[in-house]
Amino acid sequence: MGITIKGLGFYVPDKILTNFDLEKMVDTSDEWITTRTGIKERRIAEIESLVDMAYKASLIALEEARIKAEEIDVIILATLTPDLSFPASACLLQSRLGCTKAYALDISAACSGFLYGLEIASGLLESGRAKNILLVGAEKLSQIVDWTDRSTCVLFGDGAGAAVISSDGDGEVLASVMRSDGGYWDILYGEKCGYLRMKGKELFKLAVRSMAEVCEEVIKRAGVSVENISLVIPHQANIRIMQALAERLQIPMERVYSNIHKYGNTSAASIPIAMYEAMGEGKLRRGDLVLLTAMGGGLTWGASLLRF
Ligand code: ACO
Repeated sequence: MGITIKGLGFYVPDKILTNFDLEKMVDTSDEWITTRTGIKERRIAEIESLVDMAYKASLIALEEARIKAEEIDVIILATLTPDLSFPASACLLQSRLGCTKAYALDISAACSGFLYGLEIASGLLESGRAKNILLVGAEKLSQIVDWTDRSTCVLFGDGAGAAVISSDGDGEVLASVMRSDGGYWDILYGEKCGYLRMKGKELFKLAVRSMAEVCEEVIKRAGVSVENISLVIPHQANIRIMQALAERLQIPMERVYSNIHKYGNTSAASIPIAMYEAMGEGKLRRGDLVLLTAMGGGLTWGASLLRF
């Protein structure tokens, strides 16, 4: 049985906030942000709701997959910034898309949300309980960022990415490992009805170590060698985290995809957006082995090795 990502889509708002714009808002500089994070600009949803962004990304994914809305069995939407506390944003998306035969749920796993969603979707597809699943990662982080806190506001952006995943086709998940540790909850969290708070330095070290460990584990479980992996798509949190991960895995940076300079950290949306763009640039091709990895608030982290 296949686990095939048949279609990908993404949406980012038109409004661009550059590092130079941020220089006028807080005590920071383009030079500091660029060298510490790799980010040059990010997108901000001024008029779009979370569901608007998820909807636009999903339409592209459905069209690319050539699957009609009514053929979707399940919608999983990963987000930490839903439009409402309930109902789930996935339900609003289900109605907007006309996925009349789907049940829909949100999952909260911060930056690992897309990978957790992929793990759940794979299980449903493998067991035969679903044939086609729409998996979306969408975030409107601008609404929970404290725009007076220079240590966090320079890092995040808004956007959505979507994938239509089916139980037929030639794709497969060769191995995956997901982890959580709530003992670290206060390293990265959202205050109730308030702002995102983060201990950046501690998170940096944990991100490199934990993503490297799960990547090594999936590579071992899948019985492949690092040379066979065409592309690593890490969660786009910080270019220095990606460089440190590449070094630890002994994979050259040419095989590590990054678009962080354009979008910053879009949490659950970052991996599907990166996958879409990597495909468009010819860096992700059908049949390739691609390693996805993420780490985020929870803490949550994981890695999946796919034959795309
Ligand atoms: N502009 C200018 N100076 C700043 C800024 C800013 N935007 N932010 C912090 N500083 C200052 C600090 O106040 C500090 O000053 P001090 O030395 O006088 O005290 C100095 O810069 C150095 O700060 P550090 O925290 O040591 O900087 P560091 O090199 O660790 O970089 C960063 C900070 C970019 C946040 C980094 O730690 C990081 O990326 N951590 C990972 C966090 C992350 O990615 N979180 C997102 C979600 S989790 C995930 O996805 C993995």
